Formats: sequence, structure tokens, C-alpha cells
Amino acid sequence: MKQEIAFIQSEELKVKPKADSLGFGKYYSDYMFVMDYHSEKGWYEPRITPYEQLILDPAAMVFHYGQAIFEGLKAYKTADGTIQLFRPEKNMKRFNESCDRLCIPQIDENFLLKAIKELILIEKDWIPEGDGTSLYIRPFIFATEPYLGVRPSHQYKLLVILSPVGAYYGDQLSPVKIYVEEQYVRAVIGGVGHVKTAGNYAASMKAQEVAEAKGFAQILWLDAKENKYVEEVGSMNIFFKIKGEVVTPKLNGSILSGVTRDSVIQLLKHWNIPVREEKISIEEVFAAHERGDLEEVFGSGTAAVISPVGELNWNDRSIEINHQKIGQLSQRVYDEITGIQLGKKEDPFNWII
Ligand code: COI
Repeated sequence: MKQEIAFIQSEELKVKPKADSLGFGKYYSDYMFVMDYHSEKGWYEPRITPYEQLILDPAAMVFHYGQAIFEGLKAYKTADGTIQLFRPEKNMKRFNESCDRLCIPQIDENFLLKAIKELILIEKDWIPEGDGTSLYIRPFIFATEPYLGVRPSHQYKLLVILSPVGAYYGDQLSPVKIYVEEQYVRAVIGGVGHVKTAGNYAASMKAQEVAEAKGFAQILWLDAKENKYVEEVGSMNIFFKIKGEVVTPKLNGSILSGVTRDSVIQLLKHWNIPVREEKISIEEVFAAHERGDLEEVFGSGTAAVISPVGELNWNDRSIEINHQKIGQLSQRVYDEITGIQLGKKEDPFNWII
């Protein structure tokens, strides 16, 4: 895509929030990137405009049939003021995989990455510098054609918005209580669970609400067919450390291929810690605990990075993991990934651009 990105200057800039009051996804920067698609023109009019509300036709297909996908990645500022992105090409690739599954036209990955970099350069003062903070980048696409017949839309909008964020769960790295869900499922093989479409998150909310009412922070999802194998935790991938070995569910078509998941696996291999991607049943997890072999459990995702699990509740049985404390490995992985992201540690994998 050879198009120039137009820039429309904002007349007024916002007051930036304080680094200690950020939370997650509450504030948005001054500018956003926008691009439209029409089946007769392809993607057109890329532009960086003031952050503003959108006007959409009530018949826009996204409201009716849910063609909506998104990505999530972060920009960081190092101590010397360098701006860093963490493996953004993986997000661009997955964005196109989501496009493909939802019958949304492909985007030019290099062009979108260039647009994101331009936007971030304009908004560099929005990258917070406090501990555990970053600028969350949210690219998304949705169907805009006003039409009520069921088929892929002929028109779309792609936007990128920016949000300065702190920890995803109030207290970063404090172990959470997890409810193993048996009634509801997140995704099925052959469905859309392996891509980042809005509907996956909508489908997860009922179970999340029920679990929260019971006093749990998140759901651990089991497979839809046998209600037996572990899939994901909350909106994250999951890792178990059992007798010195790490196991994470193998990507099977219903599990999201997380960028942080892949980074954790690469790190463990680099450290010569045995790691296996394979099916693991919830029975095996509880049996490992019974034997005294279940050492650590943690979730991984862009938003939270690493989130240790302190308790698992399945079928009215509760097990405590690592005395509800942060495990050594969870802490080491968290320190290494955030260290690389913030330019405090070597980046032997060339993850940073
Ligand atoms: C992630 O951490 O990767 C997520 O997708 C969480 C996001 C939905 C807030």
C-alpha cells in the first residue's frame, strides 16, 4: 500500500492522567488512526485524526451480525526515552488471521505497522513512565455497510486508538482465585476461539459474572467437547509448572495463539526449562496437586503480562497453589518480559522494534 497518511490537527489537547491513576482502558489519547474499506476501492483514506466519536448507520452490519475483530499490543518508553514496541509483527499477522476467519478483507501488515508507529510518534507524550505502565494500542475493524441480509459486509472501518494503562488486575502479580467452568464454554474447535473477535469476549461474560458473584476473579475454561481439557484462563493463555516441567495447552483451533504465550515458551526453552505444549486435563492438574507436584500456575497475556493463580476451584473442590504466593518462575518470566519491554534487559530474541 503506497498511500500517504493524512494528518488532521486537533484544536485542543486533553489533560493527561496521572501515572498512578491509570487503571486499564479508561483514558484515550488525542489522536487515532482511521482507514475505510469499500469493496470497489479496497482500503482507502488512511488518516490520523483527532480522537472523536463515530457516526454509524443503525443498519451497519456490525450491530447485527458481529463482524468485529481487534488486536492489543503495547508501546513502552525506556529510561533514556526510546520508544519500543514488543513483537508488533505478530499482532499484525494475527489481525489478518482474524480478518480471514471473519471474512473481512486483508490489511497490508507493513502499512498498518507503519501507521501505528506514526501515530505513536505523534502521541509519544502519552506513553506513561511509571512502574508497570505502558501505552496500550488497540487496532480494530468492524463492518459498516448498512444492510440486513446475512453475508460479509462490503464496507469496513479500521481504527487504532491508544490508551495509557497500568496493571490490568488492580494489583499486578498478586495471585488470583480461579473458578473452573463446567456449564459454559468459551469456544469450539471449528469456531472462532483461535482469533480475536469481539464475540468471543461477549460469549465469556455470563460465566465471568457468575464466577465473580461466587468470589472468583476469573474463569478457567475447559474444552467444549469433553469438558475435560484446559483451554484458557480469563482472557489469557495458561501455564502449569509440574515437578519442574512446564505444560501449556497445545493450540488446537479453539485456543488463542497469544504473543505473550509464545514469548514465555521461547524464554523457557532459552533457560533450558523443560516446556511442553500438549493437552492437559483438569483431572491431571488436580492429581498433580494431590501428589504435591503442582508448583505454579500462571496466565499470560498482553494486558496482564503474567498473572499468577493462587487457587483453583473445580466441582466444589478448592486447591491452593504455592500457598497463594507468586511462584519463582512466574516472577522470573514476568521480570524478564517486562525487563525486555522496558529496555532494562538484553533482548536476545530481537523482540523489540
Ligand atoms: C490480552 O491480554 O491479550 C487480552 O486480550 C486482554 C484484553 C481483551 C483486555
